[in-house]
Amino acid sequence: MDWGMKNRFSKIIRPEDGRCLMLAVDHGYFLGPTERLEDARKTIAPLLPHADSLMLTRGILRNCVPADRNIPVVLRVSGGTSIIGEDLSKETITTSIEESIKLNASCLALSIFVGSKYEHQTLASLGKLVDEGEKYGIPVLAVTAVGKEMARDARYLGLACRVAAELGAHVVKTYYCENFEQVVESCPVPLIVAGGKKLPELDALKLAYDSVKYGAAGVDMGRNIWQSDYPVAMIKAVKAIVHEDIDVKQAYSIFLKEREKAKDPKAKKALTQTAAFD
Ligand code: R5P
Repeated sequence: MDWGMKNRFSKIIRPEDGRCLMLAVDHGYFLGPTERLEDARKTIAPLLPHADSLMLTRGILRNCVPADRNIPVVLRVSGGTSIIGEDLSKETITTSIEESIKLNASCLALSIFVGSKYEHQTLASLGKLVDEGEKYGIPVLAVTAVGKEMARDARYLGLACRVAAELGAHVVKTYYCENFEQVVESCPVPLIVAGGKKLPELDALKLAYDSVKYGAAGVDMGRNIWQSDYPVAMIKAVKAIVHEDIDVKQAYSIFLKEREKAKDPKAKKALTQTAAFD
């Protein structure tokens, strides 16, 4: 890796511990106004100080995150489909490398749809994006999107992650599954686990814990943080799992303690005041 690539990569995965807490807020790129992300500005503001990086599209970055915030950006550059469209796998590259550089992206994210109708198109896009990223020293995160017909098991996810790494992805985002360590072992680049649909807080913390325990470099979590009634409490608990190696019980007690703080009328007022950017 050259200096620029290494430097950007260190903003995504902390060199001190090889771990990362990426906050995912890119859901609108195909889902539209996802529950509790309708006003992205409001959702993101109180969480920003606690995330290592932010994964989002250029539209939400430009309009909902002030440019003076010191947060590394993982820019989603693939899309072109929507939940009501023909086929979600028909994604292409939607943001150019020049635009990504202008937006000071530390990493570029693109979904691949292994085993789907448009598998080839998305894998070819990954190869192209890696070429562009290598040219300018920007790492690429491949997101293994899983179609409804695919099993989220170690065999399928292992294949998708390995294909992504073979095509040059510098880091891969996937799902946690039984025998996850097999997926990790056969993928030569760091793996990050997506949170998935909203779970009870304790279960989401267990997911984060198991992910890092079995070899993930961290999590890229969205709904399980900002769809919680106490998102700041949740991100603090997840962060402690990722960077402080605490267990689920300890993390849940952080969540409960922070939840109590957030319920306190004074803390609530302070939180509301800081919840919107100036
Ligand atoms: C999915 O395609 C998006 O890229 C999300 O960033 C990803 O699924 C992580 O978000 P969540 O934790 O809500 O699943």
